[in-house]
Amino acid sequence: MPPTRIGVVGAGFIAGRHVESLGSLPDAVVVAVCDPEPGRAAALSDHAYPDVHQMLDREDLDAVYVCVPPYAHGEPERAALARGLPLFVEKPLGLDLATATALAAEIEAAGVPTATGYHWRYFDTVERAADLLADRPPRLVSASWLDRTPGSPWWAVRDRSGGQLLEQATHLLDLCRLLAGEVTEVTAVAARSPGGRGDIDHVAAGTLRFAAGAVGALTTSCLLPRGHRVGLEVVADGLVLAITERELVIDDGERRTVPVGVDPFRREDADFVAAVRGEPVTPRVPYAEALRSHRLTVAVAEAAATGRPVTLPAPAPASAGGART
Ligand SMILES: NC(=O)c1ccc[n+]([C@@H]2O[C@H](COP(=O)([O-])OP(=O)(O)OC[C@H]3O[C@@H](n4cnc5c(N)ncnc54)[C@H](O)[C@@H]3O)[C@@H](O)[C@H]2O)c1
Repeated sequence: MPPTRIGVVGAGFIAGRHVESLGSLPDAVVVAVCDPEPGRAAALSDHAYPDVHQMLDREDLDAVYVCVPPYAHGEPERAALARGLPLFVEKPLGLDLATATALAAEIEAAGVPTATGYHWRYFDTVERAADLLADRPPRLVSASWLDRTPGSPWWAVRDRSGGQLLEQATHLLDLCRLLAGEVTEVTAVAARSPGGRGDIDHVAAGTLRFAAGAVGALTTSCLLPRGHRVGLEVVADGLVLAITERELVIDDGERRTVPVGVDPFRREDADFVAAVRGEPVTPRVPYAEALRSHRLTVAVAEAAATGRPVTLPAPAPASAGGART
């Protein structure tokens, strides 16, 4: 079977990361990239286009990666779906819930394989954490994303990025769902600092109530000179787990540290390519599952914007104890 031919929409940081990891897979090839910024697509591919329509018109593709900022979701996905092409979509799925909900329905109708960029689920350490929690339900989740403001020009503009909750904390909220199950109610407050960039909130603090009984806290800041702490701690009876992108610390009276031993981007790309090739593989976070994490993230952002609690729909009984996929 010939390699799976992939086109990439957007040629920024995360597109480069996927081009690199797809290039390391034996059964995939990135054949074209598009980006409206002159020179960007050409830096990643000899077949460079200024927009998705020209790329799709001229190239024979098997799948499309959508690696655009939050404000640009919608058009690239629809252009790919119109040609029946499988989609890998970077998180967040969009600026709001309406765009992602409409796309989810269109994807469902098209019946194509999908995957999304919630790559934390591909850490081997997260798998280990989920195993450890299987017979010890979480009671408390404490998540923090305390970091610098990324340099992309759209990042600190509220109606382009949605702010730090949508752009970054959504990874942690996705893990909260994976490890502690669905959330039924959130509260949040947020504020700006004169020292912060753009018109986004620069700090936020929220609470989560989980259907299965756990409670959670989330704190974010993008005011720092560099990354300070990105991760979450999960407390169960007699056990605490601390998860970061580098390691898992397990403390059940005896403390041990397990370093991350895999490249989660390569694993998520390999799963998506396998699904596109018709192999019996289900990507861990297909679009419909990502929509649930996006809905939770939008709920926290809404609570922060309004100062009022936001209630989420109660989960179906089967998923009440966890959203593990
Ligand atoms: N999964 C992860 O860990 C991870 C990491 C980094 C970024 N991301 C996500 O990926 C998205 C992009 O982030 P980035 O860091 O690559 O940003 P970036 O600014 O480096 O790149 C975005 C690129 O998209 C291009 N673009 C904008 N509109 C477009 C359109 N309609 N068609 C084609 N290209 C378009 C821009 O010109 C730019 O080159 C963000 O939503 C971000 O949250 C995910």
